[in-house]
Amino acid sequence: MSLPKAELHLHIEGTLEPELAFELAARNGVTLPYADTDELREAYRFEDLQSFLNLYYELMAVLRTERDFEDLANAYLARAAAQGVRHAEIFFDPQAHTSRGLGIGTVVEGLWRALGNSEADHGVSTRLILCFLRDESAESALATLDAAKPYLDRITGVGLDSAEVGHPPVKFREVYEAAAALGLRRVAHAGEEGPPEYITEALDVLGVERVDHGLRCVEDPALVERLVRDRVPLTLCPLSNVRLRTVDTLADHPLPAMLDAGLMCTVNSDDPAYFGGYAGDNFDAVRATLGLTEERLRELARNSFLASFLEDDEERRAR
Ligand code: HPA
Ligand code: ZN
Repeated sequence: MSLPKAELHLHIEGTLEPELAFELAARNGVTLPYADTDELREAYRFEDLQSFLNLYYELMAVLRTERDFEDLANAYLARAAAQGVRHAEIFFDPQAHTSRGLGIGTVVEGLWRALGNSEADHGVSTRLILCFLRDESAESALATLDAAKPYLDRITGVGLDSAEVGHPPVKFREVYEAAAALGLRRVAHAGEEGPPEYITEALDVLGVERVDHGLRCVEDPALVERLVRDRVPLTLCPLSNVRLRTVDTLADHPLPAMLDAGLMCTVNSDDPAYFGGYAGDNFDAVRATLGLTEERLRELARNSFLASFLEDDEERRAR
């Protein structure tokens, strides 16, 4: 659906479509353990977050040069634009690349080749958000922020992703304090598979302005009340929740109840190459399956701009 919208929860590495993965593998002399794109797509049956992450990290082996990251980002931006995305706040996972021997500069410069021209090329404004892998150490996160310092003019904020359970937000208190001192905006995944307490901790300890997913807040009425009162945006990803079995079926998704409760929800695609759809596909799915009214859909689109890190004048233009 082409309603103008901002996408606020999107992992650029999660936009790697099977066709591009094979193209980059051939270009870089990387052998993938799949015969072809059909066989690769067969592997897209996930039990939970970790089973997805295993494939997500495995396929990143094909990303080696600035041009690879540029091509990846341009492919996403073209598809997003075609589905009405006017603004995208894009996560990237530097540690998943530096651990393979790439420099963080290769990643940022490569992505920037696409993002820096995105308004002209795709009609999509962008922001870049550096995510720390929460299943890596706090020291590694601090070293990553340090390595990113030469590129901070291109990085708007920091986030926290990867395996959630057992890696509470408090583990990253120090690096979030350092990021805030550098003037970076703060978000974090919380309450996807982890408990509602992680959402509270992300707000209180990390000082996040938005919660990525935040789905499990519905288990804690007092937390819901707080999120409503403080208008804390939640970046929900309905098709991701189905594929990672966070909800049983899309029909069981709590989005309508969350909107009725007054939560500031947005709808996003997370890792669209893996979860069966881009931002517009997620809007279409919730409209068709959850019966959201046009007014609710417009509310979701409006929330996406209000919750973005666009300046007021940019936001008006994008809408
Ligand atoms: N959750 C946590 N980490 C991730 C995700 C996700 O949905 N996608 C990519 N990294
Ligand atoms: Zn995510």
